[in-house]
Amino acid sequence: MNKITVKASQDYDVLIGSGLLADIGKYAGEVLGSRRTMIVSDDNVFDIYGEKVTKSLQDAGFEVSDFVFPSGEKSKSHNTLLQLYDWLAAENITRADSIIALGGGVVGDLAGFAAATYLRGIDYIQVPTSLLAQIDSSVGGKTAVDIEAGKNLVGAFKQPKLVVADIDTLSTLPEEFFKDGLGEAVKYGMIRSEALFKLIEKGEVKEHLEEIIVKCVDIKREVVENDEFDKGLRMILNFGHTIGHAIEKIQNFNGLTHGKAVAVGMMTLTKAAAKHGMVDESVNDRLRRCLIVNKLPYHADISPESLYDNAITDKKRFSDDINIIICKKVGEAEIVKMKLTEFKKLLTE
Ligand code: NAD
Ligand code: GLY
Repeated sequence: MNKITVKASQDYDVLIGSGLLADIGKYAGEVLGSRRTMIVSDDNVFDIYGEKVTKSLQDAGFEVSDFVFPSGEKSKSHNTLLQLYDWLAAENITRADSIIALGGGVVGDLAGFAAATYLRGIDYIQVPTSLLAQIDSSVGGKTAVDIEAGKNLVGAFKQPKLVVADIDTLSTLPEEFFKDGLGEAVKYGMIRSEALFKLIEKGEVKEHLEEIIVKCVDIKREVVENDEFDKGLRMILNFGHTIGHAIEKIQNFNGLTHGKAVAVGMMTLTKAAAKHGMVDESVNDRLRRCLIVNKLPYHADISPESLYDNAITDKKRFSDDINIIICKKVGEAEIVKMKLTEFKKLLTE
C-alpha cells in the first residue's frame, strides 16, 4: 500500500493500493471520533460495493446508514443536495458524526459539499472508485454542485479526514469512464511531469496503473500544499477545464463526460495557442498523438464563438480578465492572464 500525506488546513493520508475496501472500517476508525457514519453513494457503485463497505464499517463498530442517488453528472445538483440535507436531518446527524463518500467524482463532490455545509461542517472520508476520482477529485478538498449557469459554481473547500483509493474497484469501472480518468492523467503529465506523460503516451496505462495513480496524487499533493485555496499555482490543475466545462454545459451534461471534455479542452487551447505562436507546434502534435493513442477525443463539433460564450462564466474569470493555462512544453504549465477580448481572438481567429 502507498501512503501520501497531504499537509493542508487539515492534514490527511491518501491510501492507494489493492484490497483496501475490505478494511475501510479499520482505516475509518483510526481517524473518526464518533462511531456513527453515513455512506453517500450512487446506485451503480453502491450495488457493487455497498455491502462490503457497510460490513467492514459495522465490523469495526460503526452504526451505518446510506443515502444512494442515481448515477451521473445530472445528480450533482442542488436537488440531490437538498434531499441529502433532509436525510441527514432525518437521521439526526450531529457534528460528531461523519460521511463516507463512496463513488466517483460526482459522489465525492456532492457528499463533500454536504459535509462542508451541513451543521457548518462535519467530517468526511473520500473512498474514490473511479480513476478520475482516485487521481484527482478525491484529493485537495474542492467540493461543489453544478447549477444551471455552469459547473461547480456553488462549492466550498473542505479537506477530507482520509482518502482510501482501492485500485481493485477500477476492474468494474466501465471503459468509457476509465477514459475520463485518463483525460485528467494526461493533464497531470502536461502540466507537471514529462516522465508521467511519457508513460501515458505509450498507451500502457493499465500496465502501470498503480504507479500512474500514485504519481498523479503526488503532483496534486504538491500543488495543493502550495496553494490550497486556488489563488495561484493550483490554477494549473485547470488546464483544459475552462473549455472543457463549456463543452459539458453546451451539451447539457449529456454529451462528453468530464475527463473527455477536458481532453478536448486541452487540445482546443493548445491548438489555438500554437496557431498564435504561443506554443510550439511540436507540443500540439505530441498532445494530439497522446490523446489518439489513448482513444480520447480531441475535437468537438462546437463553434469557437459558442465555446467562448460558455467559457467566460468559468471561475477563472476575474472581471474583464481570464486566467488561461498554457503548456509551452510538455511537463510545464503557465498561468496567462488575458483580457476577454484577447481570449476571444485566441479562440475564434
Ligand atoms: P462519476 O462520478 O459520474 O462516475 C462515472 C460513472 O462510473 C458513474 O456512472 C459511476 O456510477 C460509475 N462508477 C464509478 N466507480 C465505479 C466502479 N468502481 N465500478 C462501476 N461503476 C463505477 O464521474 P467521475 O468521472 O468519477 O467524476 C467526474 C466528476 O468529478 C465531475 O463532476 C467533475 O466536475 C468532478 N471533478 C472534481 C474535481 C475536484 O477537485 N473536486 C476534480 C476533477 C473532477
Ligand atoms: N481539479 C482542480 C483542482 O483540484 O484544483
